[in-house]
Amino acid sequence: ARPLRVLGIETSCDDTGAAVVTSQREILSEAIHLQHKLHEAHGGIVPIVALASHSAHLPGVVRAALDQAGVKATELDAIAVTRGPGIHSCLSVGMNAAKTLAAVLGKPLIGVNHMEGHALMARFTEQTPPQFPFLCLLISGGHTLLLVAHDVNHYTQLGTTLDDAVGEAYDKVARMLEIPWLEGRGGGPGAALELLARRGDPHRFALPVPMRHSTRVGGMDFSFAGLKTAVQRELRRLPSDEAVKENQRADMAASFQYTVIAHLLDKLGRGFKWCRQNGIDATSLVISGGVASNQAIRASLSRLAENNGVPLVCPPAKLCTDNGVMIAWAGMERLQRGLIDDYAIDIRIRWPL
Ligand code: KG4
Ligand code: ZN
Repeated sequence: ARPLRVLGIETSCDDTGAAVVTSQREILSEAIHLQHKLHEAHGGIVPIVALASHSAHLPGVVRAALDQAGVKATELDAIAVTRGPGIHSCLSVGMNAAKTLAAVLGKPLIGVNHMEGHALMARFTEQTPPQFPFLCLLISGGHTLLLVAHDVNHYTQLGTTLDDAVGEAYDKVARMLEIPWLEGRGGGPGAALELLARRGDPHRFALPVPMRHSTRVGGMDFSFAGLKTAVQRELRRLPSDEAVKENQRADMAASFQYTVIAHLLDKLGRGFKWCRQNGIDATSLVISGGVASNQAIRASLSRLAENNGVPLVCPPAKLCTDNGVMIAWAGMERLQRGLIDDYAIDIRIRWPL
């Protein structure tokens, strides 16, 4: 039998993506339309602007994915689409398109949890795919999730953020530091902050590591709002001399990133401990989501994983950020387990894994 082919559609946030992948873990095609330019001026994503852009570009992106793959729509085995979590208007564009496509073609429809898409990406990109169960840290603009992945569709959430997501903190601090966004795929404010941080001294500003003295023993939740405020406070205390300020921007970026990493390491350490105490033999540490493309974070987490006797598994940077491939692949994993949805399903703005 020929390999299965799934079309994946992603419109949960600000990227319009479509891709076709096979059960042999090949990318037949990958099309994406980015909206960075539209949102930069506003300093964040404006839902109505995102909606208009998804509506305008999704048909062309899907057409491009099919053409590039050299696959007729009738030769697909399923249509997968991000069902949630995400922005209401944005999710609706993808969901309506996918439902209609699937119904017209008489193909299975698979509604994918965006975060499961990020989590399963590592099983697509690795030569030796990480086997279940694995410990998984998903860090993006909208989410900070520490999970145990037991199987497809079966997760235990160990921790989440109590306030801002990691990527959101990167974005807000980048804004305070007035860093221009990096253009192109995998760009945005977070990637720009990472670049600036490379030139800075991470010990120049002593920022408090969030929740280090928390009394909740074993707590695996995250918090980034206090850190953001601490950066703001330090910035206000800087001399008003513009030249001095300019020099210290890189130090602030580096100090912020250093503290974020310390916080992630604290919580992941607890995650590994939790696994041991609960008889879960994690095969690996998987990280994904836009922030997981950060090289400094990867390097530190890789050492932590090694100390816990497992490999760090992380998809290539461009597959860590939102894209159609991750939805197509999660759809494939679900299709292979018979997890198919009704054409009447609706989007889920909030959808815990
Ligand atoms: O997963 P993603 O593409 O979209 C969401 O689902 O949110 O993640 C986007 C987030 C943004 O906050 C962006 O600034 C951040 O990931 N990001 C980074 C880096 N690249 C993207 N944050 C830190 N370092 C990076 N290199
Ligand atoms: Zn994402």
